[in-house]
Amino acid sequence: MEIQVISGDISNLSAGAIIVPCFEHNTPINNETGAVDRALGGAITQLVNEGEIKGKCSEITLLHSLGKLPAARVLVLGLGKATELTSNKLRNAFADACRYLRNKNVQDLAVIPLGSGVNGISPETCGQTLAEGAMLGLYTFRNHITPKEDNKEIKRISIVAGNAERAMVGSGVNKGTILSESVNMTREMVNEPSNYKNPTTMAQKAVELGKQFGIAVEVFEKEQMEKMGMGALLGVAQGSRQPPKFIVMHYKGRTDDKTIDLAMVGKGITFDSGGISLKPPEKMDEMKGDMAGGASVMTAIAAIARLSVKLNVSAFIPATENMPGGNAFRPGDILTAMNGKTIEILTTDAEGRLILADALTYASRMEPKAMVDVATLTGACVVALGDVCTGGFSTNQALMDKVTASAAETGEPVWQMPMFDEYHDQIKSNVADMKNSGGRNGGAITAAKMLAEFTGSIPWVHLDIAGVSLTDKERGYIVKGGTGNPVRTLVNLAMKLSA
Ligand code: BES
Ligand code: MN
Ligand code: ZN
Repeated sequence: MEIQVISGDISNLSAGAIIVPCFEHNTPINNETGAVDRALGGAITQLVNEGEIKGKCSEITLLHSLGKLPAARVLVLGLGKATELTSNKLRNAFADACRYLRNKNVQDLAVIPLGSGVNGISPETCGQTLAEGAMLGLYTFRNHITPKEDNKEIKRISIVAGNAERAMVGSGVNKGTILSESVNMTREMVNEPSNYKNPTTMAQKAVELGKQFGIAVEVFEKEQMEKMGMGALLGVAQGSRQPPKFIVMHYKGRTDDKTIDLAMVGKGITFDSGGISLKPPEKMDEMKGDMAGGASVMTAIAAIARLSVKLNVSAFIPATENMPGGNAFRPGDILTAMNGKTIEILTTDAEGRLILADALTYASRMEPKAMVDVATLTGACVVALGDVCTGGFSTNQALMDKVTASAAETGEPVWQMPMFDEYHDQIKSNVADMKNSGGRNGGAITAAKMLAEFTGSIPWVHLDIAGVSLTDKERGYIVKGGTGNPVRTLVNLAMKLSA
């Protein structure tokens, strides 16, 4: 799909469909919508007067122009009250409109810079948001479906902007395109089944991105992990035939010094069977997506590099399967992590915190100014927060606040959870320095408490994305399968930190 920004008058444009906005309680209809309305002999005004078009956000009304306009159809897109418009609402509404038109087999559409200048939305934000709405909302995962002749596809979107806005809308489109490509790359990796992906293919992807966008990539093999003493990561990897990989990516966006400004650590379990503590069969298929955190930090650093953000950013991805092979680690085993701390295994299904333990130790030793880990870590987080927001956990309120603010801006909300000392009692062990499960109560928090043991004094935030990384609902720019959350938040955070 191509997105172009052109100048001209949308009512003179020939296309499968043109999209014009309608705000709630905003009569008479004016601007571009007014010109289209006049060409249609007042059809839009009539529908507004009859109450069929209310202008509610994401409301879609399709009119056929029947030769009165060069474009075959006019889609009137409700954007709600002008004073309440946000880029998130705009992204969702435009995504819905694009999918609606794709269903009608429209192949090229044109739109004005929807929402630009409304409620503080700049032309650049508008371009970015429209690109994201279209690219994210139209994403499909069809890698394993036999291609059909009548595959519906939107091939071109033209944003028709005034001369004053055109360049700014265009630079927004460029940014939105880069972000969406990264989000869709994460979705693609999450959606890929585990007979097509494993730690090795994840490492290959990292190497490929590194070459493309100028990111230094190191892939540590099992032997090197042994030398480094990564006993927790290796313990998890023991039960699988797939060799583990520890993937490290460094992007230097500042030339003045080498300090890592932001370290991003992502859980890369390419399939989580639970190991010897085998999961129940229901929904086990979803555990192909247990590497969503790893994919999101990998594609976020790619976007950060492509956008030339002036910041030194590194990504760390411990990647392995969690399988119950003959050599698998067992409940009762005691593992020694890279920082020397010992961990009693109560359940082999609490594997994420084990692989993250060693990755966090490795990253902390590079003394980054800030560290954020992203993981589909606990079912308990899904129980607590559902699929609406990510759980945020931190030992540094200033960094937590920056992450929360970045997340709110991108429409991928994070809700902070407590880290009271008392929770630590649940992971005390009689035979080791800690145990890898604190039981059911407060499970998302006790998991975070264990991670905190491996972060030293580095300002750190943990994001538990177990509830938001996959969805079976289609809503706005989110489609079924991997969501790509929180790639845009991570990139936004990097941009905030560089400012
Ligand atoms: N990958 C799972 C967590 C998960 C559950 C992610 C549901 C997405 C959806 C994780 O490795 C896990 O199995 N956690 C256990 C921990 C427990 C055994 C202490 C859980 O949450 O049940
Ligand atoms: Mn597990
Ligand atoms: Zn897991």
